[in-house]
Amino acid sequence: MTDLRRSAITGWPVAQSRSPLIQGYWLKKHGIAGDYGRVAVAPEDAERFYRDLAASGLTGCNVTVPHKELAASLCDWLDPAATAMGAVNTLWLDNGRLCGANTDGLGFLGNLDEAAPGWDKTKGAAVVLGAGGAARAIVWALLSRGFAPVHVINRTEEKAKAIADHFGRDVVAHAWDKLGTVLGQARVLVNTTSLGMMGKPALDIDLSGLPQDALVTDAVYVPLETGLLRAARARGNIAVDGLGMLLHQAVNGFERWFGFRPEVDAELRNLILADLDAAK
Ligand code: ATR
Repeated sequence: MTDLRRSAITGWPVAQSRSPLIQGYWLKKHGIAGDYGRVAVAPEDAERFYRDLAASGLTGCNVTVPHKELAASLCDWLDPAATAMGAVNTLWLDNGRLCGANTDGLGFLGNLDEAAPGWDKTKGAAVVLGAGGAARAIVWALLSRGFAPVHVINRTEEKAKAIADHFGRDVVAHAWDKLGTVLGQARVLVNTTSLGMMGKPALDIDLSGLPQDALVTDAVYVPLETGLLRAARARGNIAVDGLGMLLHQAVNGFERWFGFRPEVDAELRNLILADLDAAK
């Protein structure tokens, strides 16, 4: 018997995930005898895999697309964020009970707290572009810090409406062409769409109505400096890149599995940046 604690990124596919690099960095830095790998879980195997996580030899795991909702539905306990989102990205076993958390929203908050301390002091409206899984987590995070209303703007308006229906009256859905009508109230503007990502079309929006003291952030981190962030900085807005969200969302999982709360430091950020560069 070994007491080596093992975790992994699980999903389909998992080859491109940076989680092993992040978790491996902390394991090494803190001299912890643990392991963090990659486990590809095919859709047809997913229910059996998560239902009996212990059988795979894992202490816990991260969950990525397309299994976040399925895994949440199989949990015996969910943290408030996962309950609100109906999706998990972090699982662990507690006396045989499958427990789930969603740390994407905490990652978003941790990133802004680090890069723009005090960003949430003045509450008000927020504008979120996109209505996928990342948007759901970020809407939850903004609401948890007292931002309201949160305007969700999406090409497919029904998906924005589904998020608004889910979270209640503080969240308002709009079609893409209504951005100009809400931008003037925004304290925070967040892009969660894939627009601006390497290989995708640019995010082409007019920022002229955005208050100059609004914070602008992007969930995209390849490239690190997206067109949105560049345009925001050029007009004097504080702009925060999305890499920190990826790094900060990993903290809670590490703490659950390996019993130590790690820090997001410059060396980790540089390690991931070098890896992203090498993949170009
Ligand atoms: P994630 O889980 O990372 O949020 P996702 O669920 O694939 O990813 O969501 C991607 C988001 O980018 C969606 O809001 C999508 O808009 P639709 O719901 O209309 O598909 C948005 N998106 C992707 N390509 C887009 C484009 N060319 N124009 C506008 N929005 C786009």
